[in-house]
Amino acid sequence: MTHKRVHNFNPGPAALPLPVLKEIQEEFLDFHGSGMSITEISHRSSLFEETIDDALARARRLLKLSDDFHVLFMQGGASLQFCMIPMNLTFPGRPADYINTGVWSTKAIKEAQIQGKDVRIVATSEDRNFSYIPTEYTVDEQASYVHFTSNNTIVGTQWQRFPDGGGVPLISDMSSDLMSRPIDVKPFGLIYAGAQKNFGTAGVTMVIIREDMLKRVPDNVPTMLKYTTTRDNKSLFNTPPTFAIYVIGLVLTWLEGTIGGLKEMEKINRQKASLIYEVIDNSEIYQGIAEHNSRSTMNVTFRLPNEKLGQRFLAEAMRNGFHGLKGHRSVGGCRASLYNAVTLDSVRTLAAFMREFEEKSLRG
Ligand SMILES: Cc1ncc(COP(=O)(O)O)c(C=O)c1O
Repeated sequence: MTHKRVHNFNPGPAALPLPVLKEIQEEFLDFHGSGMSITEISHRSSLFEETIDDALARARRLLKLSDDFHVLFMQGGASLQFCMIPMNLTFPGRPADYINTGVWSTKAIKEAQIQGKDVRIVATSEDRNFSYIPTEYTVDEQASYVHFTSNNTIVGTQWQRFPDGGGVPLISDMSSDLMSRPIDVKPFGLIYAGAQKNFGTAGVTMVIIREDMLKRVPDNVPTMLKYTTTRDNKSLFNTPPTFAIYVIGLVLTWLEGTIGGLKEMEKINRQKASLIYEVIDNSEIYQGIAEHNSRSTMNVTFRLPNEKLGQRFLAEAMRNGFHGLKGHRSVGGCRASLYNAVTLDSVRTLAAFMREFEEKSLRG
């Protein structure tokens, strides 16, 4: 049976690689000869243990993690990390530094403020509607950490070179670009990302935490909210999101095997983004929203000259099989999310459609 599949540019949850979806389908009723699906087996079974261990090993290999980093699978999304980070990782009486590049950074800041932490906003791009990545900031050398969002999913800006914490551990929300490019993890104390954009399905958050950060966790943090609980119990303190962890394993297998690792993935992602930026830069009707030197390879944002043409573009795109192109409600306009599983072919097809739409609309 063949299925009609669309060109999926959803911002998250987002496209999964077709071979992964097919593999899920194929082994769903009888997972590895168990006579059960992955969602029906115990999280304490050896079969699940193999599944989680495989996903963890692949994550470590792809990101080239040394032994002083732990990979944890947690629940509560990136949003729970906003509150757990200040709760677990601030030193009493010392500031927590934040760089504000948009809605998600703002939410992270709010959760630290709610807890009465000494939050310092060391840079912000709010003055121009978060359309750029700030380059000027001074991190307090006494700071517990410096937090930033590596890719602003909503406006479409991305740090191409990470901030310099000057020895203060970096903490980053990489929800919309973890596993899309290689990263040097050395300056990081913690990295976190929901899986549902670049490497899996909703329900699980990957947390990469450096060993020394775990020593900061205060005793009076509730058990489920301590990073040490997840680390000590190998992400199995309570019932984990088993299906979502299984899907991560499959996507990481695809990333390692079919794609050939994060360097290769980055090349493809750059190629995809430049196809759409090229259309925008040579257009009389599409106007990029993010400033040039801050543009994201993951979320390409643009506007049309007026609301009516914008609506027509989105409606016509939908009729032609392009889904998820409507911009975030706080920004408006359009957004093409080009995460790992979005194919070059889909992006080429979108670029051609955008050109045709422009020609037609200029002809009147
Ligand atoms: C950069 C960023 N941070 C955080 C979130 C929120 O993640 P979650 O829904 O997993 O809590 C999102 C969701 O789109 C995001 O793009």
